[in-house]
Amino acid sequence: PKVIFATSDGPQHIVDAQPGDSLMSAAVRNGVPGIVAECGGNQSCATCHVWVREEFAERVGPPGDMEDDLLDLAVSERRATSRLACQITLTQELSGLIVDVPPHES
Ligand code: FES
Repeated sequence: PKVIFATSDGPQHIVDAQPGDSLMSAAVRNGVPGIVAECGGNQSCATCHVWVREEFAERVGPPGDMEDDLLDLAVSERRATSRLACQITLTQELSGLIVDVPPHES
C-alpha cells in the first residue's frame, strides 16, 4: 500500500509500504520527519502521533483503550482522528491513506 504523510511546513512524503507494516515503521524507514517513534512501537511514547484525514477515519478505525489514554499525553493537539502510527497496520485496503504529521515541537 502507498501512504502519504503530509506536513504543514514541508513536502508530502509518499511512501511504499508492505502489507502488515505499521504506519510508524513505514514512516521511520523512509525518514519522514516528525515521526520520532521513541519507544519503537511499544505504545508508550506517543511520538508517532498523526492526524488521519477525515475521509479515511472510518477505514482506519478508532484507537484502542491504551492508545486512547496515551493520545491524551501527546505533545501536539489531540484531534478527533488522532492515532498512534505504530498502532495502525497497513493493508491493501488502506492504500492511498493520507495522514497529517503534527508540526515539530522544539
Ligand atoms: Fe511509541 Fe508509537 S512509537 S507510541
